[in-house]
Amino acid sequence: VADDVEYDTVVIGGGPGGYVAAIKAAQLGLKTACIEKRGSLGGTCLNVGCIPSKSLLNNSHIYHQAKHEFKARGIDVSDVQLNLPKMMEAKDKAVTGLTKGIEGLFKKNKVDYFKGHGRFIGLHDIEVDGLDGNKSHVKGKNIIIATGSEPTSFKGLEVDEKQVVTSTGALSLEKVPDKLLVIGGGIIGLELGSVWQRLGADVSVVEYLGAIGAGMDGELAKQFSKILQKQGLKFKLNTKVLDAQKQDDKVIVNVEPAQGGDKESLEADVVLVSIGRRPVTEGLGLENVGIDVDERGRVKIDSQFRTNVPHIRCIGDVTYGVMLAHKAEEEGIAAAEYIAGGHGEVNYGTIPSVIYTHPEVAWCGKTEEEVKASGTKYRVGTFPFLANSRARTNTDTEGLVKMISDAETDRILGVHIIGPNAGEMIAEAVLALEYGASSEDIARTCHAHPTLAEAFKEAAMATYEKPIHF
Ligand code: FAD
Ligand code: NAI
Repeated sequence: VADDVEYDTVVIGGGPGGYVAAIKAAQLGLKTACIEKRGSLGGTCLNVGCIPSKSLLNNSHIYHQAKHEFKARGIDVSDVQLNLPKMMEAKDKAVTGLTKGIEGLFKKNKVDYFKGHGRFIGLHDIEVDGLDGNKSHVKGKNIIIATGSEPTSFKGLEVDEKQVVTSTGALSLEKVPDKLLVIGGGIIGLELGSVWQRLGADVSVVEYLGAIGAGMDGELAKQFSKILQKQGLKFKLNTKVLDAQKQDDKVIVNVEPAQGGDKESLEADVVLVSIGRRPVTEGLGLENVGIDVDERGRVKIDSQFRTNVPHIRCIGDVTYGVMLAHKAEEEGIAAAEYIAGGHGEVNYGTIPSVIYTHPEVAWCGKTEEEVKASGTKYRVGTFPFLANSRARTNTDTEGLVKMISDAETDRILGVHIIGPNAGEMIAEAVLALEYGASSEDIARTCHAHPTLAEAFKEAAMATYEKPIHF
């Protein structure tokens, strides 16, 4: 790619926010470039996030089933063995295939791809420190910052990605640890804790708050916690990690009750630090263009994703909102649409969350706690998978669908699911919320039998009448 070309749009960061923004901008007729320093496209999500974690979650689940459940299903297998290097190979293959796929999409859509670190040196000028050792300059009439996030570190505990790991190290452990201690019972802790527990590790999760699942509906968080405990995960809630030290091949973690009390020392072979993620702006040269960040380091933007320098916009994990790939993608499309002279729209009230454990947890809209706090009169309908015929035939009956609707208008306010395939099922709830559906709309919509989705319909019925099958 020629140096010093002027683009209509330059995107810094090739994650789900950045690469989607770049493709959309190009599709809208804008001359577009994307700068990515990692050496492969797809950002955190494809390289060290969503994709490798889902590969390990899926394969560790199958392994666990083969070892512990196949017999009851009438499948006799003998000598089920874990081949961890092979499982990692399958994960790497999924990652490489998908990241290469995005390079293909860039070519198809004529997005120029700069491999290197981008840094503002002027209001329209970015210097790229190329991975090949060469420097180049890229000019953009419009620029989109999509530099994402990185794991928050725990003060005083040095990450070596072997004994003390972030999610990145936990996706590539060379052997199953005897004892894995997870600091933080949020999404990463629960997903990766589940992976290693299924593969044989003794997993304990220390969580500062009184509930796991970082903000999910309280009733579901309690049920989910019971299900995970039955699987063997141990939780220490309301517990604060004070500090930790490496001692030979062990890590000693000192904790105390969140409200104060007796200290305790926990020992582990591997410690996973999963206490949240923080925005990445270091080395980006924001100071050279005077872009403001807030007290948590997030780039400040307005409702059109504009920073305080209006031709520079910002999307994804590096700015406000939930740190989810599909949220970043929606913002990428909307930002490109604004630049192309149109109007972009992201409905922040309908962004689904999914925890890809087994069973999965998925939700969209408001939690019961939020609805209660808003003062709206509401109704709750629930339907357990134990009463759903497909879940029964699958011998996979844990969980429920919980629907919350407005008691006066019947409009659906929130849907919370624990269950097999909840992550796929939530799409129907998202659509319902997006279209402002009532629970009766769902209850009177024909759902195929036997499917798990019938539980969704019956939860809708349960909000205003009674379900048929429970
Ligand atoms: P990122 O994906 O972080 O991409 C930013 C990119 O910018 C990076 O590749 C970085 O190298 C590059 N960059 C940064 N600075 C520069 C610079 N100066 N110059 C050039 N390039 C630069 N979300 C989900 O929705 N579903 C999931 O299942 C899910 N699972 C996850 C599992 C794990 C273990 C983790 C860690 C995260 C997971 N997430 C998941 C969150 C998801 O990965 C992020 O929300 C998403 O990647 C954010 O996209 P982004 O484009 O904003 O940033
Ligand atoms: P998180 O915000 O989900 O959870 C962090 C947890 O750590 C919280 O429950 C918090 O109370 C706890 N915590 C913080 N400090 C602590 C301390 N000192 N001691 C004990 N507990 C402490 O963050 P996590 O799990 O690191 O994930 C980061 C983000 O990545 C998520 O917010 C999510 O947006 C994204 N992600 C999404 C996934 C998905 O969509 N399936 C999967 C994995 C990550």
